[in-house]
Amino acid sequence: MTRLVIRNTQARDARALVELQARVYPQIDPWTEARVLHQLGVFPQGQVVACFGDRVVGCASSLIVRWDEWDSRHSWGEITANGSFDNHDPEGRTLYGAEVFVDPRLRGRRVGHQLYEARRTICRRMNLRRIIACGRLPGYHRYADRMTIDTYVKKVLWGDISDPVLGFQLKEGFRYCGIVENYIPQDIESGGNASLIVWLNPHYDPNRPTTNTDQGGNQ
Ligand SMILES: CC(C)(COP(=O)(O)OP(=O)(O)OC[C@H]1O[C@@H](n2cnc3c(N)ncnc32)[C@H](O)[C@@H]1OP(=O)(O)O)[C@@H](O)C(=O)NCCC(=O)NCCS
Repeated sequence: MTRLVIRNTQARDARALVELQARVYPQIDPWTEARVLHQLGVFPQGQVVACFGDRVVGCASSLIVRWDEWDSRHSWGEITANGSFDNHDPEGRTLYGAEVFVDPRLRGRRVGHQLYEARRTICRRMNLRRIIACGRLPGYHRYADRMTIDTYVKKVLWGDISDPVLGFQLKEGFRYCGIVENYIPQDIESGGNASLIVWLNPHYDPNRPTTNTDQGGNQ
C-alpha cells in the first residue's frame, strides 16, 4: 500500500486541495486556487498536505500571530484576514491553526494525527511558544435543542458526548480554553461556535528569536 507522506503544500496541490475542501464542507464556500496560492506566498512553511501517492487526502494550514494582540473573541475571518493570511507576522510567537481536514473516506486512520504532528514540528523548528486554534464543534447541532454550547462542551470534556473535532484535538494533547461564538457564522453544524484550544511547545526558548526556517520538503 502507498505510504502516507506529509509535506509542504506546493502550487500544484491547489486544485486538489480546493476540491477536497468542497467535499469536506458542502455548506461552506471553499477556498479558491488563487487563495491557496496566496497563502503559499505568504507563509509556505506553514502549509502542509497529506498525500497517498499523488492523491491529496488532507491539509493543515497555519499562520503566525502575536496572540497578545488578539482577544479570545475573534472570528475566523478576522484572525486569518479572510483566509488570505496577510496578517501573518513572522515575529510572532504563536502558530495559529487556520484549517485542518482529512478526506472523509480516510478518517480514523491517523492522517489527522500526522498533520497535527507536522504542525508541532513547525512550532518546535521555529521556536514558537504555542499552537492556538479554534476548533469547530460539528456534533453540537444534534444537541442544540436540548443544551447550550457550554453544556455540550462540558459533556464532551466529561466523556458523556463524543465530538468528532474536539475529541480528536483533546486526544492530540490540546487544552480547551473556552467557547468562541460567531467564529464561522456559516458553520451551521457548530451553531457558529468554536472551542479555543492551545498546545504549548515544551522546547520553547524565550531567549531565542523565532526562527524563520526556509526548509521545505517532508515535515
Ligand atoms: C478532525 C479530523 C481532522 C481528524 O482527522 P482523522 O484523520 O480522522 O483523525 P486521526 O485518525 O488522526 O485521529 C487521531 C487520534 O484522535 C482520536 N480521535 C479521533 N476522533 C476522536 C473523537 N471524536 N473522540 C476521541 N478521540 C478521537 C483517534 O482515535 C486517534 O487516536 P490514537 O492516537 O489513539 O490513534 C477529521 O475528522 C476531519 O477532517 N474533520 C472534518 C473537518 C473539520 O471539521 N476539521 C476541523 C476544523 S477546526
